Amino acid sequence: MMKEFLCCGLRVACLLLALAVFAGCSKGGPSSLAEVARQRDFYAGTAVQVGLLSGDPSYAEAVVDHFNSITPENALKWPSLSVAEGDYDFSVSDRILDFAESKGLRFRGHTLLWARLNGLPAWVVEAVEEDADPPARLRSLIEHHVHLVVGRDAGRIDTWDVVNEPLVLLGGELDQNLFAQTLGPDYIGLAFQAAHEADPNARLVLNEIFATVSAEKLDGLVALVEQLRAEGVPIHGVGLQGHLFGRFITSEPLPTQQDFEAMIDRLTALGVTVEFTEVEVPIWLFPESPDLFEAQAEVYASLFRACASRAMCLGVTVWGVDDSLSWLDADESYSTLFGQGEPALPLLLDATRNPKPAYDAALGALEDAERS
Ligand code: XIL
Repeated sequence: MMKEFLCCGLRVACLLLALAVFAGCSKGGPSSLAEVARQRDFYAGTAVQVGLLSGDPSYAEAVVDHFNSITPENALKWPSLSVAEGDYDFSVSDRILDFAESKGLRFRGHTLLWARLNGLPAWVVEAVEEDADPPARLRSLIEHHVHLVVGRDAGRIDTWDVVNEPLVLLGGELDQNLFAQTLGPDYIGLAFQAAHEADPNARLVLNEIFATVSAEKLDGLVALVEQLRAEGVPIHGVGLQGHLFGRFITSEPLPTQQDFEAMIDRLTALGVTVEFTEVEVPIWLFPESPDLFEAQAEVYASLFRACASRAMCLGVTVWGVDDSLSWLDADESYSTLFGQGEPALPLLLDATRNPKPAYDAALGALEDAERS
């Protein structure tokens, strides 16, 4: 009787344990991307939008369940912080930083200097153009901005994208944006130096677009980083954004795992860390494929495998939490140009925030990884 009781009790306990493990695995449990990333000393990141983080509990839950690193998609860009000279408002970006800290997520600061899209306030352009000494004016605006923004949260923000996209879109030369036109190439060193003064412990990164889909651009990036290092500029890392739709413009083949590894190796040989910072793999890339989402998953697997196989590759951040939130699908012109009117659906979770084959592939790649 006692034996039967014990045996039955054991069975119930086993059943309960199995159920608990199953429940854990299905959402944010031991085999979520976030958990495996933590075990592997890897960042599985996502870009976040502050409105959803505060207003949609299931969004915040998905972020925490699946990722261990976040980047504000827009909230820390110069125009988001400052609409006029002397007028800075950190209330929005603070909400994201508080969220990251309360959930134990690593936080990437994105981005201090960027001269494209929503990166540069109109008032900065006007102030510089109207000044009798534009270089002196721009230098002081940059130093003030970087000291203020980095210094304010020194010690809380692990990594900063200090200079974003300094090169022309598809080549190796410096983009002749307002910064380069006014200050010449030295503006890059100036910004890194100011950031280093403001937070000597932050990892300072140069973040570039399309170096994963243009050999010429990658060469230019490697040369630039080499030069900055030789000059003693405090640059500690390179961000490869990984907007793979750029392939439609360069017409180069999609990178393989070996290609991703070679990129990482060339950059880390210069003494900097690498991470993929804004990854999307639009299904537009696979017009011939019978299974678009499997084809997409394979690209994610090779990227995660490549990065996870290198200790100096810190992680992979995807540019959005789920497929309904990609900037590529928020603006119709991308899909008209590259996707024949179809959506890009480029991320790891589908629009209902369920894991896609791409998620499972990334997770599998990370589980199998031996970090070296
Ligand atoms: C994009 C955002 O996703 C959009 O919401 C915004 O309208 C424009 O900027 N390179 C970068 C990112 O470094 O900041 C950009 O993000 C995408 C390209």
